[in-house]
Amino acid sequence: MRHFLTLRDLSGKEILNLVNKGLRIKKFQRLYSNRLKNKTMLMFFEKPSLRTRVSFEVAMNQMSGSALYYDLMGSPLTKGKETIEDTAKVISRYCDFLTARVYEHDELKKLASNSTIPVINALSNSDHPCQAIGDLMTIKEKFGKLKGLTLAYYGDGDGNVTHSLMHACSKVGINIYIFCPKQFMPKESFIKESIRFAKENNSKVVIENKPRKIKTDIVYTDTWMSYHINPREKNKRVKIFKSYQINKNLLGDALFMHCLPAQRGYEVTNEVMDGKQSIIFDQAHNRLFSAKSIILWCLR
Ligand code: CP
Ligand code: NVA
Repeated sequence: MRHFLTLRDLSGKEILNLVNKGLRIKKFQRLYSNRLKNKTMLMFFEKPSLRTRVSFEVAMNQMSGSALYYDLMGSPLTKGKETIEDTAKVISRYCDFLTARVYEHDELKKLASNSTIPVINALSNSDHPCQAIGDLMTIKEKFGKLKGLTLAYYGDGDGNVTHSLMHACSKVGINIYIFCPKQFMPKESFIKESIRFAKENNSKVVIENKPRKIKTDIVYTDTWMSYHINPREKNKRVKIFKSYQINKNLLGDALFMHCLPAQRGYEVTNEVMDGKQSIIFDQAHNRLFSAKSIILWCLR
């Protein structure tokens, strides 16, 4: 079995396999309908979720397994009555997978090192690897390839989605440009790693602070108000990020992607969200098939 915590741990080839498997599952869904008979996934989320929670639960059900949503508010863990290590050991005795959305990535690592079952990162403050696999699937579906394409990301560079996209793109040879304010740069470790991965794949990682329109295949953004950000920071952040908003002009003739949830009128205009170049709902749809691909990968 394998944990799925960060794309840092996967080779480019493994990432491509996950993407291709997701596409295959989408095409031949029935072939996978019995793959998880008698398998149970426990899911717990410290933050809200629509796509990740529902897609993983449906993925388990459609493959004849089951998913159990565990409300942390009623857990000894949240009440401070039990350690995360002991929690992981107990869950391992009942279930076959643990999917967790937590604040601190280190908490995930603790879960993984104390589990005898695969732990899947459903988003931590630093990484969102499940999203990036679904995104690559969508890009491959739209362009028929990955290597050699260019993706331009505008907005909060210091985020889970940005970090995992940097890993994903650099490992499969997609050029990635990040346009973000100085105060919201990706973490240094992610910058260094992805530059190294990109070199190995003849692609580029470029980080700039001033937003500008470039010739690109894909324009991508994420919310300026991630789940873990204090709502009181909204006004301050809107002022900083304002010029990174994706509008028709910045989009040019690229396709538009967003991990969702989106704050319409902030990081992206309604016109772009609902326009012909927007592939956001195909992107959300593919979270289901990439979830299946990830679950099966963990079992190997
Ligand atoms: N994109 C994504 O992970 O969405 P949720 O927060 O709804 O799961
Ligand atoms: N960066 C966002 C992604 C949501 C799927 C957040 O952490 O809230």
